[in-house]
Amino acid sequence: MRKFFVTGLLFLCSFIPKNNPGCNETKLYQIAKFPIGVALDPEKLMKDENYWKIAVNQFNSFTPEILLKPKFLQPSRAQFEFSEMDQLLTYCEKYNIRVHGHTLIWHKGLPAWMEKFKGSRQDWEQLMKDHIQSVIKHFKGRIKSWDVVNEAFNDDGTLRKNIWLKNIGEDYIEKAFTYATEMDKDAKLFYNDYSLEVNGPKQKAVLKYLQDLRSKGVKIDGIGMQMHVRLDYPDITEINKSARKIHEAGFLVHYSELDVSLIQKGIFTSGARALERQKERMKDIVKGYMELSEVSRFGITLWGVSDNDSWLSEQNGRARPVLFDSRYRTKPAYCGFLEGLENKPK
Ligand code: G3I
Repeated sequence: MRKFFVTGLLFLCSFIPKNNPGCNETKLYQIAKFPIGVALDPEKLMKDENYWKIAVNQFNSFTPEILLKPKFLQPSRAQFEFSEMDQLLTYCEKYNIRVHGHTLIWHKGLPAWMEKFKGSRQDWEQLMKDHIQSVIKHFKGRIKSWDVVNEAFNDDGTLRKNIWLKNIGEDYIEKAFTYATEMDKDAKLFYNDYSLEVNGPKQKAVLKYLQDLRSKGVKIDGIGMQMHVRLDYPDITEINKSARKIHEAGFLVHYSELDVSLIQKGIFTSGARALERQKERMKDIVKGYMELSEVSRFGITLWGVSDNDSWLSEQNGRARPVLFDSRYRTKPAYCGFLEGLENKPK
């Protein structure tokens, strides 16, 4: 009877997923020659042991996932809520972790009062200036880099019709960067967007727009390529070519929101082969980034600590797009990321 029980137990155990990612866990940021970041939820950082252990052991750059968006920082006009972020900064300073500011001007993450605001062009300019400058002023010296404008372009290369474009006009982007520079001339200022890893009309338009602004004397230091990618799209040569183009144009390159969804040919996939493919993908992406010159590498930021924390999991649990699984165990993708880092640059 006992023998039967043990055999049955062993049989059942063979169905429990094993944690055999194919490498030993180390500290990614200690291996890398550039900052390794993660999108962060401070509440989980304070409350969840699994979460904070990974966040602090693996990463040396945090991008607050939602906390620095206007909806949280300025819930009512001229009423700023800085205390939660201040606490996070104190924590980061203790552990020597860089904080990247995301994001000052976007079409989402806005408080209701801002979305409903009625006023002249001058009133809107003032509103934007007040937001940008109050936030930067408060965090000056503690947050040294900002996504000043996020997702301002459509995929066809036209400007997105957001509240800023409608109420201020096309030069809102120039104004946003100028207001930011006025408040902190030493901060690194970024334009951040998705699909910039594809050599298409959007990338072309963004690069031209930002280069034109620069030639007028506007300070723009870098470009965030969000890198929400899939197992088979975009092709790695396309990604690498895009990053090189941005770097050759003289911008810092931030892979700012990296995740690799388990999607192939447009459909979700699963199983060991999909995880292996994800591993190779991470490795290729990191290897490609390593080939950029050292001065242009602002860092690679994963958009979520574990699959459990990813924004994509909220939409579909099958995306499983980051380095740790939903039980906070290393995945093959972690090993791929590590192997990419260990590759000597050319
Ligand atoms: O915390 C509340 C929860 O209490 C409530 O029950 C629930 C109901 O909807 O909402 C929860 O808040 C959500 C929050 O994520 C935390 O999960 C917000 O509704 C939701 O809007 C918020 O979404 C964030 C989104 O930006 C908008 O700010 C995502 O986490 C975040 O990953 C996403 O990040 C963006 C980048 O900023 C820009 N690039 C694209 C990227 C993905 O959309």
